[in-house]
This record gives sequence, C-alpha cells and structure tokens, in this order.
Amino acid sequence: MKISVKVPATTANLGPGFDCMGMALPIYNVITIEETVLPGSGIEINVISTSGELDDVALEHIPLDENSLVYKAVELLYNSIGQTPSELKISIKTSIPVARGLGSSASVVIGSLIAANELLGRPADEAALLSIACEIEGHPDNIVPAYCGGVAISSQEDDGSIVYRKLQWPSDWAVTVCVPDFELSTDIARSVLPKEVPMEDAVFNSSRFGMLIHAICTKDKELMKLSLKDKLHQPYRMKLIPGLNKIMDNLRHIDSVLGCVISGAGSSVLVISEKNDLDEIKNIVSDTWLSQNIKCDIKTLNVENEGAKIISNDE
Ligand code: HSE
Repeated sequence: MKISVKVPATTANLGPGFDCMGMALPIYNVITIEETVLPGSGIEINVISTSGELDDVALEHIPLDENSLVYKAVELLYNSIGQTPSELKISIKTSIPVARGLGSSASVVIGSLIAANELLGRPADEAALLSIACEIEGHPDNIVPAYCGGVAISSQEDDGSIVYRKLQWPSDWAVTVCVPDFELSTDIARSVLPKEVPMEDAVFNSSRFGMLIHAICTKDKELMKLSLKDKLHQPYRMKLIPGLNKIMDNLRHIDSVLGCVISGAGSSVLVISEKNDLDEIKNIVSDTWLSQNIKCDIKTLNVENEGAKIISNDE
C-alpha cells in the first residue's frame, strides 16, 4: 500500500501572532509512504527537490535517519497505538523552500502523519494528529493551517490538545511572499529570543493581536496598518535578516501597503497590501535586497483554503 499526501506551505506569526497564528499558501510538498515488501529493510527516507538549485544545498541539511522529522512523526504515531514503525519507504517531493520561514518542516510532519495514519487504518483522529505534530514542532501556528488550510489562530492547551479557529481572509488583500537566497534555521531564529519580555512589550502585542483579528474579520485596512506590528520576536530577529529594516522603511510610503512582517522565523518576508502597486512593492523589496547582494524570489499568492489532502492511495 502506498499513500501520498499533498501539504501546503504556511507562513506563521503575521507580526503580533507569535506562535499562535498562521496562513496556508499555495506551494506544496508531497509526502509518500509505502510499505516495503522486504522484511528487515527498515525505514528508507528520500528527498527530491522540485524547487531548483538553491534548495538542493538546503536539502543537504535535512537528516534522513532517525533524527528526521518524518521519522519522529511516524514513530510517535506508531507508538501512540503501541507499535513501532518498520519496513517503510518514505519520499518527500519538496517545492516549499527549506529554512525560509514557509513551514517546510510542518508540512513534512503533517504529511507523514496523515500518510502513516492512513496506512495504519486511521487509528488517530484530527485532534490526535495535531497534538503529535505539535509535540514535534513545539507550537501549533504552522501545523494547523498546514493541516486544515486557510488562516488560523491556535493554541496548545495544558493537556496537549490543540484548539483552533479559522478566519476569513479579505479577498482584496494581497500576500506577497519574498524569499531571499539565504537560509535561517528556526533553531537559530529562536535562540536569539529572550526568555522574558518587558510587560509593556507583552501589552503592546496583546493589543496588536486583538486588533489584527478584528481588522481581518471586518476588512478594516486602517486598523490592519496599526496591527501588523510586533515586539515579542521581530526586534530580536532583525539582525538575522540583513536589509529587512530598510525594506520596511522603503515600503512605508506606499499607501496600499498594510504591513511588512517576517514570515515565520524567517528568512522570508511577507508584505500584506491591497492589490494595487504590487509591481512597485516587488521592486522595492528586490532592489533593497540586491543593494545588499541578496537575490530573492518574490510571488504574490492567494491564501490556500484547502489543507493537507491525500492525493493517491494505491492498494
Ligand atoms: N512561530 C514560530 C517562530 C514559527 O516564529 O519561531 C517557526 O516555526
């Protein structure tokens, strides 16, 4: 039996929603798991990149052994029903850029969990799959939209369960994803964050996050312009993304821009805007990065409203 699952990329945080907000994007990884016929052959993991040379380098950093996220996800699922995984062939066809803050790890975790769950006859429900995925990822912001699509706010409760709600993204707001040619690992991007933050910064973020949700639900662009601001993670990560301060400054005078934030833990940058002036926005970002010798790939994308789905199930 062979199961393939297609999982969207995600962007997390959207400024003030650190670790609790994410959005699915129409770039996909496909994770395929099949039972091998040879007993004792163990677990074999292969990665095939479909996103070009830049990522071939990044892919070399993906562990293919017991340390891989795929292996951990599959193992936790099997363990949850009192089994251990064996004799599986897993392949990952990646189009989501690696280590760029676009949820590539969440996509492989969700994809391998759904595929393995299907192989096992679906012992785990959505709640169990999301809890296992969150145990691996550490926060639910990428895994929830990877699983269910759309824009979602989420939390992990004390018992490990994930609570989430989806929001309707205003159709006349554009999401421009700017992917630079350098990687930034989530571990590094989290290591620069402080263990404690000043109370006024926490208050700043809770007000902005509340306003962000209201702005999205009511399509209030003036409120959105005030909402896409953060003091919990972005100020600390600025130094890891050369040129970002300048990009933010240079975009400020464009009226249609609602905000510019780090995508997830970086290195990509997200520009939220109205749908006019998109070429000017792209030129500003690419020229600013180019002035620092950074090349980039920029695309305006729609929110992907569909989450992970099984695309083939060969008996
Ligand atoms: N919320 C996470 C972070 C996303 O910003 O570190 C990356 O996994």
